Amino acid sequence: MADDKAPEEQLNNLTVNDDDDVVDPWNVSGKSETGIDYDKLIKRFGSSKIDDEVIQRFEKVTGKKAHHFLRRGIFFSHRDIHSILNLVEAGKKFYLYTGRGPSSESMHLGHLIPFMFTKWLQDVFDVPLIIQLTDDEKVLWRDIKVEEARKMAHSNAIDIIAVGFNPENTFIFNDLDFIGQCPAFYQNMLRIQKCVTFNQVKGIFGFNDSDVIGKISFPAIEAAPAFSTSFPFIFGNQVVPCLVPCAIDQDPYFRMTRDVAARLKMPKPALLHASFLPALQGAQHKMSASDVNASIYLSDTAKQVKSKINKFAFSGGQATVEEHREKGGNTDVDISYKYLTFFMDDDEKLAQIKKAYESGELLTGELKKIAIDTVTPILTAYQARRALVTEEVMQSFFKIRKIKF
Ligand code: TRP
Repeated sequence: MADDKAPEEQLNNLTVNDDDDVVDPWNVSGKSETGIDYDKLIKRFGSSKIDDEVIQRFEKVTGKKAHHFLRRGIFFSHRDIHSILNLVEAGKKFYLYTGRGPSSESMHLGHLIPFMFTKWLQDVFDVPLIIQLTDDEKVLWRDIKVEEARKMAHSNAIDIIAVGFNPENTFIFNDLDFIGQCPAFYQNMLRIQKCVTFNQVKGIFGFNDSDVIGKISFPAIEAAPAFSTSFPFIFGNQVVPCLVPCAIDQDPYFRMTRDVAARLKMPKPALLHASFLPALQGAQHKMSASDVNASIYLSDTAKQVKSKINKFAFSGGQATVEEHREKGGNTDVDISYKYLTFFMDDDEKLAQIKKAYESGELLTGELKKIAIDTVTPILTAYQARRALVTEEVMQSFFKIRKIKF
């Protein structure tokens, strides 16, 4: 490797101390009740904070109010977002790339966050979007057969499409069906594979000698969609820069991709990193598909949402009403409040709720009701859109074709 790299491109094992939160593509857990320390993560990963200046620039370039995920620090970190905003100012185009590792468990609200934001970015910038479903990843990492994984990719695609994507400018593919049909994609995979040593992937991902060889080469498959030349049917042979919105746990893949890009003389993908939607039980954990009581699934009924929030949402309130009136609630740990920061667009209303809860004027039960009344209509509207995504609509996103660019 060259010696003259910027610090952020150092690929060696990041130093992890015992008191650090665990955040990698396979494990996420925080040490504190208030959740993951995202500022510390920015330092550890060497990314940049999305601060007021970035947000103002976003607003200036797009002429639109920043999404509340930006205003609230839910998308909190970036790499090179200024290069994308510069392009937009110069009247040039880029494309969006994101993805999901399909799973059989139903998707939950937390899975929606990156996709909701991606949809907003797509609308604001009017750019094409490519969504990778890594069914191959699930075969390698879990006890899942190839055939099963392909099916899950297609059913998960329906859940994703229901966020509101349009086949006119969105291409979705699953690796197991697509890669064999697209020589240019495989050729880029190979170029990437040739740039990364076993030592480097060990350092970045923690693979060891007993990991199957498929895992070791998999990062090249997640990296390839960040290069426009992997999709000649969309971009011809144009080199088009890429922006990847993703949860912060995917950053290792893109640290590697950015390092490889420099060596392939391709533009480095820019990144926008999301924080995690906390589990109902508390902010130390992210919402997880395998824990029924910790998650609100996209298929949950209004009744289930109500009962889950009432029963399980960790409360920052005090033990008795008297004590609560006196001391007030703690919004740093309160899950109903945290959900409002994710799903309530109105800043003023949110600020009022925070004030009322912290002063003890608003009780836990009342806060929970506000959370229920905020989340439920979002879920109901989502479910109505999902009901309209037929098999045929789903297939139209997968067709290898030119999309609007
Ligand atoms: N590895 C991701 C997961 O398990 C899926 C994925 C593939 C992805 N490509 C991506 C996520 C690009 C974000 C951006 O969910």
